[in-house]
Amino acid sequence: MSCIMIINGPNLNLLGKREPEIYGTTTLAEIEQACQEIADKNQVTLEFLQSNHEGVIIDWIHEARDRCDALLINPGAFTHTSVAIRDALSAFNGPKVECHLSNVHAREEFRHHSYISPVVDSIIIGAGWRGYTMGLNYLMDSLADAK
Ligand code: DQA
Repeated sequence: MSCIMIINGPNLNLLGKREPEIYGTTTLAEIEQACQEIADKNQVTLEFLQSNHEGVIIDWIHEARDRCDALLINPGAFTHTSVAIRDALSAFNGPKVECHLSNVHAREEFRHHSYISPVVDSIIIGAGWRGYTMGLNYLMDSLADAK
């Protein structure tokens, strides 16, 4: 059975309550449920994680090297600051997706640059919570293609 890890960075635990005009009203638990249903239908093991701490996220990416076949990450604000998360992702060999709920390019200038984008296979931006299910489907297709 394939394993796909979904990692959420800082402040995403507040989804649904946090700036709903930007991020929508869907909670992280609801996104997890939508992803879990897709994973169950496709007999994929899902690890759905959230942390506000950069080092914890880096540790999870390292763990994914042994345990998981593909990875989706919404690094939150660390997207725009973290060389360390980028380096950890570079060392993960499976297919990788960067996902953002909001269209970061239509927002403040400091959100236009991502340290993460050059080291992932696909970037999904501005599709709201559906970006997660789109990314998950892409990763499952990539794993199937590689078999
Ligand atoms: C975000 C965009 C980031 O710029 C922001 O810091 C977030 C959420 C998104 O999903 O749209 O926390 O990653």
